[in-house]
Amino acid sequence: MKVLLSHDAIQARVAELGAEIVRDYAGREPHLICVLKGACAFMTDLSRRIDLPLTLDYMAVSSYGAATKTSGEVRLVKDLDQGLDGRDVLVVEDIVDTGLTLNYLLNVLKQRGPRSLKVATLLSKPSRRLVETPVDYVGFTIEDHFVVGYGLDYNEKYRNLPAIMVYGS
Ligand code: IMP
Ligand code: MG
Repeated sequence: MKVLLSHDAIQARVAELGAEIVRDYAGREPHLICVLKGACAFMTDLSRRIDLPLTLDYMAVSSYGAATKTSGEVRLVKDLDQGLDGRDVLVVEDIVDTGLTLNYLLNVLKQRGPRSLKVATLLSKPSRRLVETPVDYVGFTIEDHFVVGYGLDYNEKYRNLPAIMVYGS
């Protein structure tokens, strides 16, 4: 498979995003929410580049399947351990593709009373978007390729690859 983004390129960009987040959240304590499992690698590296007091939580979602794809309705497979009331929440995603998952997730999280709610995604495929959904920090904007590695999977495989590769290429 062809490398789309090398491990070094990812690390350099993650450091830049971390610095940007430090500037934007100065004096506050961001609460990072990792959307399992794809965002795990990104969340771990990003959090180590944010030199601020912060807290982490994790949630897992699963699509309902092809029948409800257009609604983007997702099932909460693992909910957060902590509430969001009054917190500065930063959702950390691996990739925003159609935007349906993120859109649904943001609507769920909004109802829990965060003081602020922002999104950081490692990858964005804007050409695939079906719903406009706000994304505050984007690592890389990519073409319409199916990619794996650095947390991203194809049938649960390839998450351990250090780089991001174009699947099947
Ligand atoms: P969306 O709801 O279409 O924005 O995408 C939701 C999920 O689809 C992402 O969080 C990923 O888990 C998965 N996904 C979308 N594109 C890719 C890809 O290129 N590689 C691996 N997973 C992907
Ligand atoms: Mg996935």
